[in-house]
Amino acid sequence: MAAKVLLCRGDMLAEGQSRGFDPWCEGRDTVLLVRHGGKVFGWRDACPHHGGTPMAWRKDAYLNADRTRIVCAAHGAQFDIASGLCTLGPCLGQSLQCVDIELSSEQDIYIRRDGGGETEHDKQR
Ligand code: FES
Repeated sequence: MAAKVLLCRGDMLAEGQSRGFDPWCEGRDTVLLVRHGGKVFGWRDACPHHGGTPMAWRKDAYLNADRTRIVCAAHGAQFDIASGLCTLGPCLGQSLQCVDIELSSEQDIYIRRDGGGETEHDKQR
């Protein structure tokens, strides 16, 4: 069984909110979560434009003003929240890297270190 790490309780991520996490103690946020359309999406905090550049312009600030896209603060690339696909900017057509998250029956949000099997993204599609 893959090891999993608690990111946050479900009620700590409201609709339209993003948050960054450092689940493996790397000294900076390496994973971001967004709740959008009632679903939770998890992505690596690593922009595909420049070798995995961190994307938030301040702690937990990953979204555009109307909270419809993930934005990289470095050069303004915009990403679809559900698919991770870059829809505007210098890495157009590239994608964020999906992380394997799991919601418990209490709606707590976990990340699994190892892949394998269906991801939460797959289940929500
Ligand atoms: S590093 Fe993200 S848009 Fe350039």
